Amino acid sequence: MNANEIREKYLEFQKSKGHKEIPPSPLVLENDPTTLFTGSGMQPLLPYLLGKKHPEGTRLTDSQPCLRLQDIDDVGDPRHTTVFEMLGNWSLGDYFKEEQISNYFEFLTEVIGLDPAKIYVTCFIGSEKYGIPKDEEAAKIWQKVFKKAGIEAKIAEIGSAENGDKRGIKPGERIFFYDDKENWWSRGGGIETTPKGDPCGPDSEVFYDFGEDKQDIEKYGQSHPASDGARFMEIGNQVFMQYRRNDDGTFSELEHKNVDFGGGLERLAAAKIGSFDVFKISLMRPIIDKLEELSGKDYNNNTDEMRIIADHLRGAYLLAAQGLSPSNKAQGYALRRFIRRAILKALDLGIAQDFLKETIAPIAEEYNSLPDNILTNRAGALEILEKEERAFRQTLNRGLKEMRKLSRRGGAVEPKAPQRGCLRNAPRQDPDLTGYDLFKLQDTYGFPVEVSVEQAYHDEIKLSENWRKEFDEALEEQRNRSKTASKGMFKGGLEDHSDMSTKYHTATHLLLAALQKHVDKDIAQKGSNITPERMRLDFNVDHKLTDEEKQKVEDQVNEWIKQDLKVEFAEYDKDYAKNELKAHGSFWDRYPEKVTVYTIGGPENPASREVCGGPHVESTGKLGGKFKIKKEESSSAGVRRIKAVLVAPDEN
Ligand code: ALA
Repeated sequence: MNANEIREKYLEFQKSKGHKEIPPSPLVLENDPTTLFTGSGMQPLLPYLLGKKHPEGTRLTDSQPCLRLQDIDDVGDPRHTTVFEMLGNWSLGDYFKEEQISNYFEFLTEVIGLDPAKIYVTCFIGSEKYGIPKDEEAAKIWQKVFKKAGIEAKIAEIGSAENGDKRGIKPGERIFFYDDKENWWSRGGGIETTPKGDPCGPDSEVFYDFGEDKQDIEKYGQSHPASDGARFMEIGNQVFMQYRRNDDGTFSELEHKNVDFGGGLERLAAAKIGSFDVFKISLMRPIIDKLEELSGKDYNNNTDEMRIIADHLRGAYLLAAQGLSPSNKAQGYALRRFIRRAILKALDLGIAQDFLKETIAPIAEEYNSLPDNILTNRAGALEILEKEERAFRQTLNRGLKEMRKLSRRGGAVEPKAPQRGCLRNAPRQDPDLTGYDLFKLQDTYGFPVEVSVEQAYHDEIKLSENWRKEFDEALEEQRNRSKTASKGMFKGGLEDHSDMSTKYHTATHLLLAALQKHVDKDIAQKGSNITPERMRLDFNVDHKLTDEEKQKVEDQVNEWIKQDLKVEFAEYDKDYAKNELKAHGSFWDRYPEKVTVYTIGGPENPASREVCGGPHVESTGKLGGKFKIKKEESSSAGVRRIKAVLVAPDEN
């Protein structure tokens, strides 16, 4: 039985128990600013768990793609992935612990045929501080279901996972009580960090035992379900949503108690094939096979890199296919980080050529079954990924060289297999690479700071202890520099002629961007002349503009003026400005190595981004009037000229 079959069987099983199947939600939830990505099946259901009536009733089930960026540093071990599919079922004030526990046990043992003797479970030990009792009810139900399967399940009180590492488990023990770090569920993690207003409660987790020999005792301590070692793997979490966190931090019982169940499909599939390594299941194997083929290397000797690449490319595909583009902010940044980190890991494997196209193919096929309302940009995903791949490769080698230059070894460091914690062993005391250098790598070469830090570990470049603080300072400094500079330049006061020229200068940028948007994206500036009375722009285009085109361009500029878009500038490396930022520039071959780029309308989707020496107004609203094209005429062969003015808003 492979992963796809397990998903199918699960949904069928839940339907046979009276659940309605609901469609999965996108990874980026509209109307939920609290998290970047959907990280569990319950997230889209939050209003219903808090009491709203669900149109499909009180028993629901689905299979939800999830992304947990917080797990990114654990990817590389046999079981962690940032991307996974969560099988879910919910009772909205309907059944509770008894039915949930016995149903899930039935599914595991009778439907997918796991050996009951390999199943271990955990329950919540209670919290004195918040007056929440130990979940003896759940433990008793578990004893009953194990007994039916012929197993006498002994109960053990573990408390913290650290205690478990020391204590281990004793013969016959199968049900373990842990503290809130392990057995309390809310979107914020433990009991203290439960977000105010959220539903939450004790949970009961289910584990599969891969055998004592899988535990690395030296590294992880004795084996027990909540250990980080490889003997036990969580294959399901049953949250008993009994409480809601109040605004004053206390907890009250919910009027309707809910069940929120989530089980990782990839892990269930791994348990089914008896593999403690989830990357060996049917959904992952084709990606690993492709990486083995491209690199000529064996998975068994390169597990970390191949696991990271497989995980990240699944994430990258899912995000791009949902219409996201790489950027330097929020979700787009995660996408960028996935792609760039995967490329760096592939480089470690000796894959130096573009490889996304081939590696994404089996991933896209795997996600074929996801509905179109989620994968809205299935067709364009690959193009987005390949574009980012090309852009990153262009700066990659220079960035890596630069990074190694920054270290005292001066570029002599050859890439080698990552060694976690190698810095701890580094004999050198003084750091090579401060947060300010890290900032430069991000600013100039587009290395997300996390990627630089990881590369520094990899290359045994010692980071200063305060690198994060230094990095943040450099970032803040740059922000302030552009703010003050533009403020200083436009202190207000009465307008004089130079103010007017400045306005026309900004209007010229808007005009060029509007022409590129509405007439031809390849239009470039061929010359301009600005006086306090008017602006003039020459540009290449193969035809006389139609009235309709002129109208569209004029309307667009006026729309941008109305939107009062911010005008900001910063200095960049020329290549970065051209290839990464895609700034418009007319004279690339004549520009110095560092150029100033003016952005109108924010970094994400700017209205205009041009290399320019300024000056410009602070925001487009300061243009103060309406933009009007006075004349459109030929300037020379293939070049047209527009003369335009800014007039008072009510003038025609
Ligand atoms: N919402 C629960 C979890 O994410 C089931 O583990």
